[in-house]
Amino acid sequence: MNIPCIDLGKQPLANKFIPKEDLGKNEYKYHLAYEFNPDTYLLSMVHQPDMSDMFNDSYPYDSSGSATMVTHFKDMADNINKNFFGNILEIGSNSGPFICNIDKKKNPVAIEPCSNFAKITRDKGIPTYDKFWNSDTAYEVMSNHGFFDVVYSANCMCHIKDVEEAFFAVRNVLSNDGTLIMEDPSLIDMLKLSSYNELYDEHFTMFSVHALQKLLGKVGLYINKVEYLLNIHGGSNRIYASKTMGGDSSLKNALMIEKYLGVDKVDTYHLFNERIQQHRDIFTNILYEYKDLGKKIISYGATSKATTTFNYCGIDSNIIDYITDTTPAKQGLYSPGMHIPVVSPEEGLDDSIDIIHIGAWNYTKYIMDKEVNYQNKTWLTEVPFPRIIKG
Ligand code: TYD
Repeated sequence: MNIPCIDLGKQPLANKFIPKEDLGKNEYKYHLAYEFNPDTYLLSMVHQPDMSDMFNDSYPYDSSGSATMVTHFKDMADNINKNFFGNILEIGSNSGPFICNIDKKKNPVAIEPCSNFAKITRDKGIPTYDKFWNSDTAYEVMSNHGFFDVVYSANCMCHIKDVEEAFFAVRNVLSNDGTLIMEDPSLIDMLKLSSYNELYDEHFTMFSVHALQKLLGKVGLYINKVEYLLNIHGGSNRIYASKTMGGDSSLKNALMIEKYLGVDKVDTYHLFNERIQQHRDIFTNILYEYKDLGKKIISYGATSKATTTFNYCGIDSNIIDYITDTTPAKQGLYSPGMHIPVVSPEEGLDDSIDIIHIGAWNYTKYIMDKEVNYQNKTWLTEVPFPRIIKG
């Protein structure tokens, strides 16, 4: 039985940035809430928006847009080129920072439903299917390319509504000795960091290793190894699974830590919900106090995470003058729900700013090291709790 436990109120689609001419129009909103199932251990969304409204030819999030992610995917591709044999399929290839670094001898194939990004990898010679991942797509891909020895998927399985069917389809395309390697944000990191803003429309499920073990087991896949990725999306797990039973000490450790932190108990999520309500009150108070003093506040990074925070806390352009972001596809538009203007760093970063809120909090160190000209400003974050980092 699913038990409702986390409530983030009415939210827009996190990556649906709005052109000026559409500001007066009706904007789609849904109730962002999560429920926990004590039998499956799954923490999943209660009211799920339609996937094709989120992932289409105008999806703006580009995984090649940050140096950290580009290096991360290049390193992983090098690792697979060296240590794994056979054909490779990537599910959710975005603009291709992983699959484009895979050896052509490994016959890389990509699945990417956002056709603006699918075109990029196809133009580079990689067979790319702009389709959602499910059994039909798996059948089509397998008919054309045969079985795969490695299926890699980063920050994608948590986006899929019918995730059991998605794993079933993975199992069907994997060769008998094949390996599924998947990376998704870590549930215990969200709990430890109180980073509620990792919850948004695209994250249907926040996986714990406990939940994945049960879910994969249902389709005949077994977790063999768990790697923890400290700097990726605020902390992620990389899971290696195959058709062969047996996990090493990394799996046992991951399960032990999760159990200690209570991922298997609904009370943990009720407490999380209470904690984030307090965070919301403290964070908005800090911002209102600065605003009352006449300070100019901006936000750095028009992230999905910031969409959740701003809509949950009711922070609009009366508080935050604008958001700076390096992504051309977001610049000149308005943030989802709260309609804060998004501008380029060149346009938005200048000495008139008093306070900088870090929307891309998972890159805090990288950003603060980079922005040497703004070290004298006050920098704010809400993760792991609302506070002034500097200034
Ligand atoms: P990310 O945490 O990947 O976003 P999301 O919450 O949507 O998953 O952050 C990437 C966003 O932040 C992207 O829009 C680019 C922007 N950004 C900057 O503008 N400057 C920077 O220095 C960094 C690191 C990110």
